[in-house]
Parts: sequence; C-alpha cells; structure tokens
Amino acid sequence: MTIPLIRIEHASKTFTLPDGGRFDAVRDVSLDVRQGDIYGLIGKSGAGKSTLLRLFNLLERPDAGAITVAGRELTSLSKRDLRDARRNIGMIFQQFNLLQNATVFDNVAFPLRIHGGQKPEQIAARVNQCLELVELGVKADSYPAQLSGGQKQRVAIARALASGPAVLLCDEPTSALDAETTRALLATLRDINRRLGVTIVIVSHELSVLAEICNRVAVIEDGAIAEEFALNEPAGHDTAPRKTALGRELAAFNTANRANVADLASPANAADAATDPRTADVAAIAAYREPAHV
Ligand SMILES: Nc1ncnc2c1ncn2[C@@H]1O[C@H](COP(=O)(O)OP(=O)(O)O)[C@@H](O)[C@H]1O
Ligand SMILES: [Mg+2]
Repeated sequence: MTIPLIRIEHASKTFTLPDGGRFDAVRDVSLDVRQGDIYGLIGKSGAGKSTLLRLFNLLERPDAGAITVAGRELTSLSKRDLRDARRNIGMIFQQFNLLQNATVFDNVAFPLRIHGGQKPEQIAARVNQCLELVELGVKADSYPAQLSGGQKQRVAIARALASGPAVLLCDEPTSALDAETTRALLATLRDINRRLGVTIVIVSHELSVLAEICNRVAVIEDGAIAEEFALNEPAGHDTAPRKTALGRELAAFNTANRANVADLASPANAADAATDPRTADVAAIAAYREPAHV
C-alpha cells in the first residue's frame, strides 16, 4: 500500500465571530490525496472549501486533527520546519495575489529571494525556467497590470512552482477567467501534473472545471465531506449511486465528456509531449530541488 502524499485526519476549524458566536467552517474532515492525483473539492459558496484547502499548508491552523504532507505532520512542526515544509506546497488563488509593483520576473523570484541561499544567477536561471514552462518568458519585464487574467494566473503558477514543490494547491484558479482562458489554464495544470508529477488539489464551485481535470473529487457541504469518488479513471470508474445533487451532476457531466478525456490520454498526445520543445525544461524542473530538500 502506498502512503498518500497528503493525509488529512479528523480536521476541524471553528471561527469565532465578531458577535462572539461560533461557526464550524470545517467539521471532522478526513481525506487522502495520492501522489499524482488531481484532487477536486467542490461545493457551494460558503461550504468551507477555501478554509479546508488552507488547512493543507496551515495557512489556517486546525483546532483539531492532523495534516500530513510528504510524511511530515505539519501541526507538530516548529516555525522553521514549517517554513521549510511549505516550500514543498505551492498555492495559487482566484485573484492571483501578485505583487503589483514588481515585474513578472521579480514576482517569480520573490519566494526564492526570501528563502535565501541561492546566488542571483541561480535564481535568474530558475525564474526563467519556470516562466518558459508557463510560456511567459517574453513577459519577464512586464508588470501585472500589463497582463491579461490568464497571463497573471500563469505568473502565479510559475511563482508557486519556483521552489520545486510536490504539491500545488489551487483555490478557484479559473473563477476570474473567461471560458476559453479557463480551458487553456486547465490544460497547463494538467501538463504540470502529468509531466512534472506535481500533485494538485483544486477547489472550485464550477462543475465543468473539476470534471475536466480531476481523477478524484470530494463534495463539500456545510464544512464536511458529503461524498468522495473517482472520475476520469477507466479502471477506477465508480458507478455507485451518488448521494448528493452535485455528485450526480458531476458524474453525469463526466460521463458526457469521457470521449474527450480518452482523446487527451491517447498515445498521439504522449508523442506530442516527447517532441515538445519544453520537454527539456520540464525535465530540469522536475529534477529541481533546493539543497534543503535533498
Ligand atoms: N476568518 C473567518 N472568520 C469567520 N468566518 C469565516 C472566516 N473565514 C471563513 N469564514 C466562514 O466560513 C464559511 C466557509 O468559508 P469558505 O471556506 O471561504 O467557503 P467557500 O470557499 O466554500 O466559499 C463561510 O460561512 C465564511 O463566512
Ligand atoms: Mg472559497
């Protein structure tokens, strides 16, 4: 049995409200994300998806439960060890969260400079590699305000990948983008998953987004997992009746799109990947690890 890359065990989070009341945003959630998964969290607005996702890297500390990523239980780590563990967990957001007064290059370099220990030329090489990966090498000297939404999100992805993480957390990454840009961005995420081997956890309220790229999804209702099932996996395709309306819709949407998915997984595409000029960059990026991670 393989140990999951991420294991959430009985995690709960309660917020204290300004009026002194309490609100249970995450209730006793347990889940496993395996290495190589694209794991989706779907639910209505206010269901607790973002709060749950923020537990994965301890941006939000759970009141109870354990969060284990790559064998390290995060709640038990010292500040210093947590900072190090977080370099293995990249994150992107709906509103991109870029530094507006910094160039694209400096945005991507930011986490590497903060961490220290690398020479400017090493940082520059790494930043350029990550920008090439998201096809934004030509925009290195631009500022965020000069980019489209899709380009901004690609910069955020490059920044998240700069430290060579094993996991990429995505909170509504396409919700600020139009349909066409959404498709392109999802293709980039799928590419990062397949070719770099980065495990992805993606939160969305949009069925079509998760149906397109996830191999496993959890439906979140009132801070808890209402159901969890496999998608897009011929062998693991789960035909059990779904318990939730969202689960039924997602499964139906997925069935309707299966031909499409089979097409994406075809050998012809694998051949494309092998001849893609970015393959060398991809190999370099996949091999990249800070000395601290070796
Ligand atoms: N810092 C906070 N303080 C109080 N309540 C919060 C806080 N963060 C989130 N909540 C509440 O927790 C619930 C879940 O929020 P969130 O995780 O953002 O849901 P989702 O991402 O599914 O829309 C919401 O009702 C929200 O108002
Ligand atoms: Mg949210």
